[in-house]
Amino acid sequence: MKRADITVPLQIAEYAELSAEDRALVDAARQATYRSYAPYSRFSVGAAILLSNGETVTGSNQENAAYPSGTCAERTAAYYAHSTYPDAAFKTIAIAARDTSGAFTRTPTAPCGACRQALLEYETLAATDVRVILAGDNEIFILPSVRSTLPLAFCEFA
Ligand code: THU
Repeated sequence: MKRADITVPLQIAEYAELSAEDRALVDAARQATYRSYAPYSRFSVGAAILLSNGETVTGSNQENAAYPSGTCAERTAAYYAHSTYPDAAFKTIAIAARDTSGAFTRTPTAPCGACRQALLEYETLAATDVRVILAGDNEIFILPSVRSTLPLAFCEFA
């Protein structure tokens, strides 16, 4: 029997260490949390996607009384981005969240499995790595691709 280890490259940064472009995307994700509709969880998530055409598209979680009908911030942003600009590749996605206290989470909030799967599809489609910035208030994680967040992903056309 063989053994293999899968490693995930992770950069850990402070906000001030980010490039101006990354800081702007984190700011956009943080602003998007204020447009969240989360009366049930009171956990407000914002996502901002920088596209290859220079546009930035944002999304936030939108909940519903029929709980499973709600959508996460990442998929709100991704579906809006691809339905508005179908020819643009995703370059970077930044994600931020505020918890039930209303404050930004100190630690990074990572996308759920379903969002990783959805984002991976667009990454694969465009054949361009999508950098992932998980913006905690205290520390920021940067991953080089969506694929790196979803080892052993299902991808029919990979
Ligand atoms: N949520 C997101 O928007 N993104 C994630 O990656 C994880 C969870 C939302 C879904 C729900 O509205 C709330 O956060 C609590 O789970």
